[in-house]
Amino acid sequence: MTQWTSTVGAAQLARQLQAQQPRPTGPAGRKPPAYRALADGVRLLVLEGRVPVAARLPAERELALALSVSRTTVAAAYEALRAEGFLESRRGAGSWTAVPAGNPLPARGLEPLPPESLGSMIDLGCASLPAPEPWLTRAFQGAVEELPPYAHTHGDYPAGLPALRQTIADRYTALGIPTMPEQIMVTTGAMGAIDAICHLFAGRGERIAVESPSYANILQLMRETGARLVPVAMEEGIGGWDMNRWRQALRDSAPRLAYVVADFHNPTGALADEQQRRDLVDAARSAGTVLVVDETMTELRLDPDTTMPRRVCAFDPAGSTVLTVGSASKAFWAGMRIGWVRAAPDVIRSLVSARAYADMGTPVLEQLAVNWLMGTGGWEQAVEIRRDQARQNRDELVAAVRRELPEWEFAVPSGGLTLWVRTGGLSGSRLAVAGERVGVRVPSGPRFGVDGAFEGYVRLPFTVGGPVAEEAAVRLAAAVELVRSGAGAGVDAPRSFVA
Ligand SMILES: Cc1ncc(COP(=O)(O)O)c(C=O)c1O
Repeated sequence: MTQWTSTVGAAQLARQLQAQQPRPTGPAGRKPPAYRALADGVRLLVLEGRVPVAARLPAERELALALSVSRTTVAAAYEALRAEGFLESRRGAGSWTAVPAGNPLPARGLEPLPPESLGSMIDLGCASLPAPEPWLTRAFQGAVEELPPYAHTHGDYPAGLPALRQTIADRYTALGIPTMPEQIMVTTGAMGAIDAICHLFAGRGERIAVESPSYANILQLMRETGARLVPVAMEEGIGGWDMNRWRQALRDSAPRLAYVVADFHNPTGALADEQQRRDLVDAARSAGTVLVVDETMTELRLDPDTTMPRRVCAFDPAGSTVLTVGSASKAFWAGMRIGWVRAAPDVIRSLVSARAYADMGTPVLEQLAVNWLMGTGGWEQAVEIRRDQARQNRDELVAAVRRELPEWEFAVPSGGLTLWVRTGGLSGSRLAVAGERVGVRVPSGPRFGVDGAFEGYVRLPFTVGGPVAEEAAVRLAAAVELVRSGAGAGVDAPRSFVA
């Protein structure tokens, strides 16, 4: 059995190495030997997630040709990477990237802290906003009025309340994607939806292709179902999906599922264009892969002049290749715990059976509240409040970070709730530890990666604005100083990152 899940061609790797900025340098700025510079370059690509872990590297001869260096240089670089745990090789199977055993990088998701426990800590861990009142209160008042007929039933609706299934189906139909209520299952948040999908399609040992980086808690959920994650690197900036890479990953590893967040991706904020959506669906169909599209962020377009491409399911309206997951958590309020799946009726029937043994169904009152909102136009008004709040927070947070941390790099997304930040060569894991000491909780990059990538990143959410955003940036700058001075120890960073 091979140990690799994707491949990197020589020309592609050479391009990525040549585009690296700044180039890793030796001690005191001295130019390192060629093999050392090459090994450091590859290691940085792995740690930053641009080359996935478990990606097969080109043969020495091919890479030497592509880089115009001697084969001895490449052989020495591969040997150095092997010695440091960043490369594994087996005769006949080639060499593939790895992360050293015992690496301190966290593999867990993001556990929300109870708000009461935070004290004076600024929590940048959770990308969720408070409820857009008065709509939460109004929705529950409306729901209570509609409750009496349900009180006479047993109250278990594993597929969701018929009224809400119809309302959600009608919303897709209104977008030009004809949908029947039999194509909808209401779930306990998007997490509940993806949990049911993973249990139905991707048991122990199955492969799931994921964007690298991707949303931490979904990655963790997939790990816990025993699936093998196949990371597909995102392009730097807001462009996102490199279709050659996706086609190759789906062809090479034929995963059972692929999971993508095409609208305002968490954590990068990237938005897939229409061609990328069409190509993703085509590539998934050809590989026999079920494409799970998470639309949790879809309604959070923050820049009104950004044109929204068609939904991914518009390219597979029957819902046999594309399983769409939606949620009220980001557009409205995470405390509702309402999500849904849109898929072909037979897939929905199987999912309903799969979830019935987990949570039986979603609470009736919350379903009625979301149905009331969607039926009265309250939903649109609440989402507008949500967008205004997130846009203002984004702009204030960006300004504060630019002022306090000018060496941090990021692309400002046109929607969503997160800023994906390169921390100028500083270890994100150490920053997270130091942040706890100076009163800011920030998730480090590796939580959003597979097997230890993204050590040089942190994620900042658009949940704070004004003076709190400014204070958050001041505290992050204090955390940077702690790490630089060595006082932020307690977590060992991988070698290529500044301590
Ligand atoms: C992309 C994405 N999917 C799913 C979720 C979780 O959604 P829910 O609260 O509906 O379970 C989040 C929350 O941050 C998210 O960003």
